[in-house]
Amino acid sequence: MAKPVSIEVWNPSGKYRVVSTKSMPGTRWINLLIEQDCRLEICTEKKTILSVEDIVALIGDKCDGVIGQLTEDWGETLFAALSRAGGTAFSNMAVGYNNVDVNAANKYGVAVGNTPGVLTETTAELAASLSLAAARRIVEADEFMRAGLYDGWLPHLFVGNLLKGQTVGVIGAGRIGSAYARMMVEGFKMNLIYYDLYQATRLEKFVTAYGEFLKANGEKPVYWKRASTMDEVLREADVISLHPILDKTTYHLVNKERLAMMKKEAILVNCSRGPVIDEVAVVEHLKQNPMFRVGLDVFEDEPYMKPGLADMKNAVIVPHIASASKWTREGMATLAALNVLGKIKRYPVWGDPNRVGPFLNENVPPPAACPSIVNSKALGLPVSKL
Ligand code: DGY
Repeated sequence: MAKPVSIEVWNPSGKYRVVSTKSMPGTRWINLLIEQDCRLEICTEKKTILSVEDIVALIGDKCDGVIGQLTEDWGETLFAALSRAGGTAFSNMAVGYNNVDVNAANKYGVAVGNTPGVLTETTAELAASLSLAAARRIVEADEFMRAGLYDGWLPHLFVGNLLKGQTVGVIGAGRIGSAYARMMVEGFKMNLIYYDLYQATRLEKFVTAYGEFLKANGEKPVYWKRASTMDEVLREADVISLHPILDKTTYHLVNKERLAMMKKEAILVNCSRGPVIDEVAVVEHLKQNPMFRVGLDVFEDEPYMKPGLADMKNAVIVPHIASASKWTREGMATLAALNVLGKIKRYPVWGDPNRVGPFLNENVPPPAACPSIVNSKALGLPVSKL
């Protein structure tokens, strides 16, 4: 018998029982659910990561839908439990859903929602922040100040890398990768090299137009290049940011051999998923190459770091906060709640999951649709005509 898990209840007499495994930012998502006759139960257990057993206990005997988190293991056991409880809706409060076994969800007829379109710029901004922090050694310098070690200006003190005129490399030029590339190109006048299976036409046009603008103003233009291999990006770029999804093909995409291809003073940034990098190899590479730097938001075995990483001065490390701006996190909560609500209400699925503006406008009611259901085709769900 699973141990009971502590909860906070909203709208106790609501017809549909929705569970959120975590408290989430903002209140709009709560209001949207309770206004539509949901009884909302938010887990208040003082435990950062809930176990499968905890979530089974939360689901209980009757549950219409669950809003869950990327730290949870949504597989056979949980989808079976949700289905037994009469549930047909689950949403991750995340765009990534590598914690979800979508085949298991399909088997039990459960819709799986995610939250794209709301975290593009926020995530790209963190990748840019890590790039800058690594290039200019911000964290090391901050620690030095706080330790009271600063006793006067020195020519060699915390000398880092100038970004202007260097080359930024992007691996995976989808929405986030492209937003990051634009920030680095426009903000720091960097050239761009990218690798993606698909041509990033809009990004290319942007860099071309910006290059022409610079030239017309008597400045050195910027250029772009689409690499034919990922290794080309690793060899040529000065700052490289990783933006692939995590699957079997991208596990340890950056390994010992590929680290060795990179420039000795390169900067490697990862705000995608930890296992895309072989973290043990990175620690060794950081030790052997003190001028090489990394900016990491994600880790191979979160929440843990591989031994030695925390001691490396040439690593800037933050706890998976790429989407952590107030607007984005509140928006993610809203989209996750609307995915679950929409499925419960049998609404169709929104036609373009990246164009989520209408769901985020607080001044009007959201469209009667599920913003983003990743297995909508497999479940044969109708698409909204709105
Ligand atoms: C996501 O949404 O996948 C992010 O990793 C959360 O920040």
